[in-house]
Amino acid sequence: MRVIVADHPLIAHKLTYLRHKGTDSPTFRRLADELVTLLAYEATREVRTEPFDIETPVGPTTGMRLSTPKPLVVPILRAGLGMLEGMVRLLPTAEVGFLGMLRNEETLEAVTYANRLPDDLSGRQCYVIDPMLATGGTLAMSIRYLVERGADDITAVTLLAAPEGIEALERELADLHVPITLVTAAVDERLDEQGYIVPGLGDAGDRLYGVV
Ligand code: URA
Repeated sequence: MRVIVADHPLIAHKLTYLRHKGTDSPTFRRLADELVTLLAYEATREVRTEPFDIETPVGPTTGMRLSTPKPLVVPILRAGLGMLEGMVRLLPTAEVGFLGMLRNEETLEAVTYANRLPDDLSGRQCYVIDPMLATGGTLAMSIRYLVERGADDITAVTLLAAPEGIEALERELADLHVPITLVTAAVDERLDEQGYIVPGLGDAGDRLYGVV
């Protein structure tokens, strides 16, 4: 797995205010949205394009446009929804699929509780968005699910990642033979006993949507 830590002063600035516990929910949502758009620019560096013949007012030229099938953006419910607008702002023609997965704590089997995805993902480039890569369990299950349905290129976009989560993805996805890339604004120190990223930003879902 390729790990890209997007290194830019604007990303560092927005991330600092996102982490700040004094940042209220509307500001948190706006900052997350802006940060995702900056991450999306980095994450789409290898989005597939094809030549496109056009006429400018001056003459003919061959430019580039996004290839079909169009990329698929997959927010992981619930907190991934807070990243969707920021991502599709740069990829307005992308399709959007939704995936909600959790682990049955008794059987340890992956349970899909929400799935709104095309059945066949053959040849699709997928952008999986989830703000916090903590233990990596949900993201690993989601990526495996997409690859088993044919996706052949996966980029996960997160605001923050824990080293434990990156190791878990590398371990749990080692048998998948498709390119997997992680783009994140920062890799933090560690996870605490409750599974929170340290220093992190707290519970991303709660800070985006309030505690429900
Ligand atoms: N999920 C969150 O929202 N925050 C963390 O720190 C870890 C997982």
